[in-house]
Amino acid sequence: MRIEAAPSSDLPLGQSLSLKIKDLDILLVRTEAGLFAIEDTCPHASQSLAQGRIESTTLACKHHGVQIDLRDGSLTRDMGFLYLEPAKVFSVNESDGMIFVDLP
Ligand code: FES
Repeated sequence: MRIEAAPSSDLPLGQSLSLKIKDLDILLVRTEAGLFAIEDTCPHASQSLAQGRIESTTLACKHHGVQIDLRDGSLTRDMGFLYLEPAKVFSVNESDGMIFVDLP
């Protein structure tokens, strides 16, 4: 299901934007590598990923530093926490000044 998420102008380069869409907490992230949508729940302790450190295709959680690949949700640095599941990511695209997210 394609959902109109936010105006493109609400998400400048290098920033993230937290949204609640259909009971899901979604974090949109724009980097020089592209536009990404990830469930705003850290795989470690379910904290928000907002205000994490953004670098190219990764986002590091501000709480304990777990680093997530924004392209597929895999963990690129797990900080030694065992058995973490990947983060959920969603297909996202942009047209006519709007950002759209595909939700299941
Ligand atoms: S809550 Fe994100 S790394 Fe711990």
